Amino acid sequence: MSDAVWEQLKSLDKPTLAELFDRDSARLDTFATRFELGSDENASGIRFDWSKTHLDAAHVELFEALAKATDFAGRRAALFAGEIVNVTEGRAAEHTAQRGVGKEESVALAAENHHRMAAIVEAIHRGAMGDVKHLIHVGIGGSALGPALAIDALARDGAMVDVHVVSNIDGNALEAAFAKCDPATTMLAIASKTFTTIETMTNAESVIGWLRENAVADPYGRVVALTAAPAKAIEWGVDETRILPFSESVGGRYSLWSSIGFPVAMALGWPDFAEFLDGAAAMDEHFRDTDGLANLPLRAAFADQYYTRLRGCQTRGVFAYDERLALLPDYLQQLEMESNGKSVKVDGSPVDGPTAPITWGGVGTDAQHAVFQLLHQGTNLVPVDFIAAIVPGHDLAAAHHRILLSNCFAQGAALMAGKKSEDPARSYPGDRPSATILLDEVSPASFGALVAFHEHRTFANAVLMEINPFDQFGVELGKEIAKQIEQGGTRFDPSTEALLELAGIG
Ligand code: F6P
Repeated sequence: MSDAVWEQLKSLDKPTLAELFDRDSARLDTFATRFELGSDENASGIRFDWSKTHLDAAHVELFEALAKATDFAGRRAALFAGEIVNVTEGRAAEHTAQRGVGKEESVALAAENHHRMAAIVEAIHRGAMGDVKHLIHVGIGGSALGPALAIDALARDGAMVDVHVVSNIDGNALEAAFAKCDPATTMLAIASKTFTTIETMTNAESVIGWLRENAVADPYGRVVALTAAPAKAIEWGVDETRILPFSESVGGRYSLWSSIGFPVAMALGWPDFAEFLDGAAAMDEHFRDTDGLANLPLRAAFADQYYTRLRGCQTRGVFAYDERLALLPDYLQQLEMESNGKSVKVDGSPVDGPTAPITWGGVGTDAQHAVFQLLHQGTNLVPVDFIAAIVPGHDLAAAHHRILLSNCFAQGAALMAGKKSEDPARSYPGDRPSATILLDEVSPASFGALVAFHEHRTFANAVLMEINPFDQFGVELGKEIAKQIEQGGTRFDPSTEALLELAGIG
């Protein structure tokens, strides 16, 4: 049934953005929506403006039909009910329960885990583990990208503890953190859902070694483990009282809300972390309770599908016009590419058409002076998201923020309008799409809603493509081969053999 809808979608006319605005005077009201983070009139909000995309009434009607054909409502209900939506691994995907929205028992368990986490965070802030000034957080992928982003976004005004998120196995990363920490006042958080990831476990050992070499009498006494595998953490040497567990049904790239967010709570304090969860919960409720185009993550997914499948776009750009959100493209790369970079459907049959585009991006205005040439005049059509905030995060002269936002809005306008010139090299084709997400302010709540919006957008895209966004088997083969290399005894292709020999490995 979904194939028939796709055929109809392919046959529709493709009016230009200018034509769409000309034809429909209510276009802005239809496609630009304010999302409120609270009910009182001073509550902060976020504007989601998808009017400069090529969605029109005809496309929306068919995308809504596609949502019906792919049982969007049923799959969404299953997600929130804590059913096994990750069928290949036989698991639920209960990140929303961490925010208080989901199956009753899972919400209760998440609340219990958060309660324990809050108690430990507050005890450390009060000095229960001695003088803690620095926290080295070792983790990788979903166990690092979210904490790094959240701390960079929300703790610039002064963190309660100086946090260093270290992910790479390359010792340069850990050495850089050591250079900024005093061992006498440093604690270690080991973040790993599985507690087996080679990079994280190797880095953790090295931090223990560094503490020991620097005369810390009981390095293991400085460790907190954030994991869904508490038994493995105990076996590794972490004291049971300092293990912060989370549920197996929380996926790695969806785990920022669980105890993986420990360094965020350490940096911000528990009340701000709780607000961050509440902001995400507001987006969860919107996503759960709203149908069709009015559902913001689903609306974004309609546009994503339009560009990937009907216009052949192989990438999508994300540009944060806010230094605090500079790490957002990195975070979204894992969320979107690890979730939806698949070739088979939930039922195992091959996907007919492209799946996740390559997510890339950067920070404005820097990116304007580096990569925007291609966006304006290149041969690739790249749908772009601009993300900005009305209130600046600094105290410098107003000119900084005025120029920043003027440039952000100018880019969207220029991409759409283009400009004709006698000289082909100076011509801009225009009709290039963008969406704008404009936050009133970057606060724990608005940031939580922004991240949850992207999680649900990713899920909505997966449903429309009929794929499972919650497994990631594609990362396994490389890990297996790296292990074989470590162990020795396996022969590889001539190129790989030559590289190994040159590096003196194997
Ligand atoms: O290899 C990919 C991956 O499994 C990610 O999905 C995950 O976020 C990351 O590795 C880290 O895994 P863990 O938290 O178990 O160490």
